[in-house]
Amino acid sequence: MSATPLRSLLFVPGDSERKQAKGLTAGADALILDLEDSVAEERRPAARAMVLELLQGQSARARRQLWVRVNALSSGRLFEDLAAVLPGRPAGIVLPKVDSYDDIERVARALEALEAGQGLLVGSTPLLVIATETPAGLLSLPGYPRAVASHSASARRLAGLTWGMEDLSAALGARVRTDGAGALRPAFQLARTSCLLVAAAIGVPAIDGVYVDFRDPEGLRREAEEARGDGFSGKLAIHPDQIETINAAFTPTDAEADWARRVIAAFEAAAGAGVTQLEGRMIDRPHLLQAQRILQSMSRDEGKTP
Ligand code: COA
Ligand code: MG
Repeated sequence: MSATPLRSLLFVPGDSERKQAKGLTAGADALILDLEDSVAEERRPAARAMVLELLQGQSARARRQLWVRVNALSSGRLFEDLAAVLPGRPAGIVLPKVDSYDDIERVARALEALEAGQGLLVGSTPLLVIATETPAGLLSLPGYPRAVASHSASARRLAGLTWGMEDLSAALGARVRTDGAGALRPAFQLARTSCLLVAAAIGVPAIDGVYVDFRDPEGLRREAEEARGDGFSGKLAIHPDQIETINAAFTPTDAEADWARRVIAAFEAAAGAGVTQLEGRMIDRPHLLQAQRILQSMSRDEGKTP
């Protein structure tokens, strides 16, 4: 689990050498090498081999940015995917179409066995969960806080929750996702909000879903800024052109950073008090947490892109 939340996570089809090469220089905080929806059925074995080769060709430092999206548990291919890529020591696994916390628990068990078998530290492979791709998965989200409390080993692997509309709309048979003013229709609003709230409830970052119109930087900027305003810490990307916009949207502004430093300084000056003031406004614990969060999201090692 990364201490500094990931701002941009770029999907790269697992069977495209060209896009993999391009992805490595795109400036994304992470790449998600995809074995699932962006890879045609007959290309899956080739994709597994290419992803493993890519991982094995990278330094340990560069691999910290390389995640792999495996196929869903329901596909019957997930365990084969995990076994194929784990020897490459990816940064983590992105789990699609999760139907309930039980899926996470089963994947965590499989990972334990694979990690042990390969001499890796058991528990060392984090999971980023795409939590709203199936209706059942979305409906199961309110159960996560309780599940996390009683399954500490799998819970420790959770690196974040993200949400998606593409598969959910297919499952619903929904033909529209937004109303005339651009606001999400209720089912998608529920998915986005559930992802955000449940991630906060279990103490992991919430990552906003993809913006598929990759030729519309202005729309992407708006959506990314809204997401950050609401509390998401990063956003999935599908095209290298989206990375700069996303990184910018999720980087605190100078004014925010300045405010955060002043809040911390005010608490230091107040020597242990739970409440104090900054320029005539009360500040207490929530402000301190907010300030710490802003400064933490800035403590990024800028040289780390592979
Ligand atoms: N990762 C890395 N490189 C990418 C890329 C990605 N996701 N998307 C595009 N590129 C590269 C292209 O290969 C091209 O490189 P080149 O100049 O060396 O030929 C360059 O960026 C410009 O691409 P462009 O021509 O604008 O788009 P395209 O038609 O090649 O690809 C998509 C469009 C949507 C097919 C492509 O962006 C893509 O595959 N996205 C990821 C899809 C995915 O993983 N979906 C699953 C999650 S929702
Ligand atoms: Mg999908």
